[in-house]
Amino acid sequence: MKAIVMYASITGNNEEIAEFVQKELNSRGIDTDLEDLFDGDYQKASEKDLIIVSPYTYDKGSIPSEMIDFFEDLPNQNWENKKFIVIGSGDRFYGNDFGAAIDKFDQQLEKTGAQHLTESIKIHTRINQEDKEFIINILNKTL
Ligand SMILES: Cc1cc2nc3c(=O)[nH]c(=O)nc-3n(C[C@H](O)[C@H](O)[C@H](O)COP(=O)(O)O)c2cc1C
Repeated sequence: MKAIVMYASITGNNEEIAEFVQKELNSRGIDTDLEDLFDGDYQKASEKDLIIVSPYTYDKGSIPSEMIDFFEDLPNQNWENKKFIVIGSGDRFYGNDFGAAIDKFDQQLEKTGAQHLTESIKIHTRINQEDKEFIINILNKTL
């Protein structure tokens, strides 16, 4: 199985999540690439079996600007044989908009026909030990 973690990060929280997930997947023998969509190529996802998306949320629930091309192209993909997880950081301070980009990606990825590996995961600001254990537990159950 091949995986890719595609992330967007301004202050490093989503980068830290993406690196953690990459490390965990690699340690389970899943060959996992890391792609920063600030300057990366979202089309690499088409070659993978498992796609992880880690977006920050900005400006009243918006997705990252560097992920817009990827987001808008998703409905054109036929990813019925793939699985995905959306796991990212937002801030509870933003109330109903907390992690809204995560929900938006979740819905958009469903349009490709890909299956959830698990429900999406929202992390408040910086990933902590409890978050890491939660993720490890989910990966242990689903992979
Ligand atoms: C101007 C601004 C707007 C934001 N809007 C939201 C928001 O609507 N919802 C949310 O959950 N977080 C919001 N955030 C918080 C970031 O998503 C959060 O700090 C996240 O951890 C940043 O990820 P990064 O470190 O990978 O850039 C906002 C932050 C800033 C600076």
